[in-house]
Amino acid sequence: MRFERVAIVGATGPTGSHLADALLQKSMRVRAVSRREAGLRAAFAGRDVEIAAADALDEAALTHAVQGCDLVVDCVGLPPAAMDRHAVVARHVARAARATGARLLHVSSYWAYLPLVRSPLNEDHPRQDGSPWMQYRRQAEDVLLDAGAAVLHLPDFYGPRVHTSTLQNALADAVAGRTMNWIGGADVAREYVFVPDAMRIAAAVVAHDEAFGARWILPGAGPLTGRDVAGTVGELLGRPVKLRAAGPWLLRLVSLFQKDLRGFLQMVPDYGKPLAFDAARLRALVGEVATTDYRTGITRTVEWLRRQQQAAAS
Ligand SMILES: NC(=O)c1ccc[n+]([C@@H]2O[C@H](COP(=O)([O-])OP(=O)(O)OC[C@H]3O[C@@H](n4cnc5c(N)ncnc54)[C@H](OP(=O)(O)O)[C@@H]3O)[C@@H](O)[C@H]2O)c1
Repeated sequence: MRFERVAIVGATGPTGSHLADALLQKSMRVRAVSRREAGLRAAFAGRDVEIAAADALDEAALTHAVQGCDLVVDCVGLPPAAMDRHAVVARHVARAARATGARLLHVSSYWAYLPLVRSPLNEDHPRQDGSPWMQYRRQAEDVLLDAGAAVLHLPDFYGPRVHTSTLQNALADAVAGRTMNWIGGADVAREYVFVPDAMRIAAAVVAHDEAFGARWILPGAGPLTGRDVAGTVGELLGRPVKLRAAGPWLLRLVSLFQKDLRGFLQMVPDYGKPLAFDAARLRALVGEVATTDYRTGITRTVEWLRRQQQAAAS
């Protein structure tokens, strides 16, 4: 399948931005949609991308913004206090796509499958129970799946342009010279994806008609522990990086002072469990997928974080 013009809703985030690159590389036209026009202009400066400012919570504005596109992608990220709005955004995205006759792609997370009962995690993993954030994810996915979307379940990601994630926050700590805070045990092996890889895979998935109306687990780059990360970053920075692995008790204490961490506490028990992804179904769809090894991905991320931190300081 080939799409002529793709609307990416929530385009200014890391997934939207890297997806735009992957689609442009396949010679598709891209329309970037998010709430702030200035943010869109800054994020897409120098790239051949149409800009449309619209709030996905405003169905009419969103419908207008995606008109003329034959694929609409939901890449919207919401702050901790508004996670319950994912389903509202999903409903509006689904209706807007229907109004313009477009197909749908939803960039979601493996969180919909939590609490984790077995690893490696594949599409048949139970998808029930759990905390409100897990349920909000499922609600949004179900709305879009009912509307015929391809739903992508991403591992936790990291890379250039990522502003927050478990691994990215730890890397930012290390680059800034702070002790690296690590959620879960220091030796618990979990899997992560380099965000440009994930979005290259997303662009490959939508080329297949069978991708729509189904869920797809994306692969990460294999097992990685907090201790591995501290070792790799320490080598790259040329100095030892201290690691502070924070379990539920320490995080509960810190969350008394950090509002953003409070909501995340509901996810913490799962971060203490080893996690791998079984992407066999996706590989059967798109063939073998190349993933960037952690050393290369972390090197590129550390370089990007250094530039960001230098720019912020000047
Ligand atoms: N972090 C991880 O490790 C991870 C892993 C797997 C999946 N995910 C999920 O993947 C999805 C994409 O992540 P991301 O980091 O690329 O997203 P993000 O940066 O958190 O958000 C993307 C963009 O959404 C826009 N947005 C927010 N509210 C909006 C609204 N009402 N209408 C229109 N646009 C709106 C924002 O731009 P404006 O401010 O300009 O509107 C923002 O730049 C999210 O759902 C995220 O939770 C994250």
